[in-house]
Amino acid sequence: MKTVVVTGANRGLGLALAKAFLQAGWKVVAVVRHAVELPANPNLQVEACDLTSAEQLPALVQRLQGMPVDILVNNAAVYDWPSPQQDVASTDFNQLTQLFQTNTIAPKLLADALVPNLQVGTDKLVVTMSSGMGTYAEFENYHAVHWAYSASKAAVNYAMVSFAELHRDIKSTLIDPGWMQTEIGGPDAPLSADESAANIFKLITEHASKLPNAKMVDYGGGEMHF
Ligand SMILES: NC(=O)c1ccc[n+]([C@@H]2O[C@H](COP(=O)([O-])OP(=O)(O)OC[C@H]3O[C@@H](n4cnc5c(N)ncnc54)[C@H](OP(=O)(O)O)[C@@H]3O)[C@@H](O)[C@H]2O)c1
Repeated sequence: MKTVVVTGANRGLGLALAKAFLQAGWKVVAVVRHAVELPANPNLQVEACDLTSAEQLPALVQRLQGMPVDILVNNAAVYDWPSPQQDVASTDFNQLTQLFQTNTIAPKLLADALVPNLQVGTDKLVVTMSSGMGTYAEFENYHAVHWAYSASKAAVNYAMVSFAELHRDIKSTLIDPGWMQTEIGGPDAPLSADESAANIFKLITEHASKLPNAKMVDYGGGEMHF
């Protein structure tokens, strides 16, 4: 049985991806910030971890020691504008630090720490959810307003291309999941998390032919420019 680790698996795209992998008979290690109820399944292992905690992230890695991991999906992230009442998230020093820790630093540190697990897995793949907002190619005024989220995604793109350069035996791909109806995407988004997850599941499980190394693709598999 193959194993996938999915971060932020309690809601949104992460939950939809976890369900898709479980349905296909994979073992899913669901990394969630707080202990939460997820649909019962014998192939589901729930691991509570605040990925920005300097104690909890190494403790998670320790708990997973020796477990072959075929695929890591770095999905957890936060937006820079959590609610209309909290529009200071692009200016407040502590919130900015938390944002970069979640969106940029944690995915790279988790991937680095799980290299031994990935090296004994069969797929040897790290997928990191990014965004067109983190590209210079799609730069526009809205992205400048949300510079913090956009910059955190541009930085994770760089971090995970660097990961690919430094670990030639592991593939590292960035995916833009599209604008989805989730807490980050809001209710006006055209896509449901389930629709995006169905496409991304196909890309990931057929990654040998559908995912390039050290590049970013959209949820349909089309290559995007950084
Ligand atoms: N939605 C969109 O339109 C869109 C567009 C482009 C890219 N993306 C990207 O797609 C991915 C999934 O987004 P989504 O829309 O599904 O977001 P979401 O519904 O807001 O879910 C975010 C997930 O990240 C988790 N998380 C946040 N901080 C964490 C931490 N410190 N430790 C552990 N988990 C943490 C959240 O856990 P809690 O429940 O504990 O907060 C939640 O499970 C993200 O990388 C996002 O940037 C989304």
